[in-house]
Amino acid sequence: MASEPGLVAARSFSTAIPLRSKVAVLGAAGGIGQPLSLLLKTNPRVTELGLYDIVNTPGVAADIGHINTLSNVAGYTAKDKDGLKKALQGAELVVIPAGVPRKPGMTRDDLFNTNAGIVRDLAQACAEVCPKAKLLIISNPVNSTVPIATEGLQEGRIFGVTSLDLVRASRFIGAKLDKVVDVPVVGGHAGITIIPLFSQVEGLKLTEEERAALTHRVQFGGDEVVKAKDGLGSATLSMAFAGARFADSLLRADAGEEVLEWAFVKNDLFKKEGIEYFSTYVKLDKNGVKEVLPLPENISEYEKELVKAAIPELLKTQTKGEQFVNGKQ
Ligand code: NAI
Repeated sequence: MASEPGLVAARSFSTAIPLRSKVAVLGAAGGIGQPLSLLLKTNPRVTELGLYDIVNTPGVAADIGHINTLSNVAGYTAKDKDGLKKALQGAELVVIPAGVPRKPGMTRDDLFNTNAGIVRDLAQACAEVCPKAKLLIISNPVNSTVPIATEGLQEGRIFGVTSLDLVRASRFIGAKLDKVVDVPVVGGHAGITIIPLFSQVEGLKLTEEERAALTHRVQFGGDEVVKAKDGLGSATLSMAFAGARFADSLLRADAGEEVLEWAFVKNDLFKKEGIEYFSTYVKLDKNGVKEVLPLPENISEYEKELVKAAIPELLKTQTKGEQFVNGKQ
């Protein structure tokens, strides 16, 4: 039987017998990379961690390598010309939080010029060294960087990590209801493309004003953190939590569990509109995406309108990524 979707299933790491699982983190010395690597070190399913960054990774590896879980940790930098390859060798999962984060006043799209090339080069290295690995792309703008990471990689194994939107939405509603809940979030990972499905939360009653305000808060929740950090970056700790949670879901699926998650993956749900990537409900198995499920039938009219409004923006950002890979950008 499939395990529960989302946060409830993933609230604590499962401690069933781990398989050998090497996880590589690219951008491991950064604001997200460090706490993410720390959380992965505490996951009993991870047996080896390959940490790569252009700088500072040996220090991160030495530090978390002293944590007494069974996994081994190695850190590589760009100083070693084979450092990236060594980090990737034998990896089942590759998590990519490499690249620049936002500063106040920036949109995720403003990061494209720097991060597109970083993601392309790292994804190409994965295609060479570990073509069967699952790729978890955190680097923004996710709506454009996921379409960049395609060449030589298998489509059901490439994931845009939108888990932070689910984590945020679930916390905002959980705080209101004073309990832990799962709020599905679909679409993409930027502004109006982030679509929380409050209609799917049992027992939740919102006035129109509350619904609009909470929707806006989920869509622009990242800005709250960027503003509060006042020039020092964007969400790192909550993103590390969300990324580690998603990685655990894939590792559980790798170990034979059928796991349900929400992720930004290639699918046909909005093919008619020209959309190739949309975050939706996916069944995972050891090969990655086993099945893409449609949006729940009973979403509200309000949510249907949000989906409609997101489509042009998703198309624009997807095209930007595709043009970049085709050398037209
Ligand atoms: P950061 O600047 O603290 O860390 C980024 C790291 O990437 C740095 O250590 C840097 O040296 C490294 N890096 C740069 N180029 C690299 C390359 N070619 N190879 C390997 N490493 C490289 O940034 P932070 O805060 O960790 O954010 C990373 C990315 O994650 C940003 O693009 C940010 O927008 C994105 N992000 C995504 C979220 C999501 O929900 N998907 C949420 C929050 C941030």
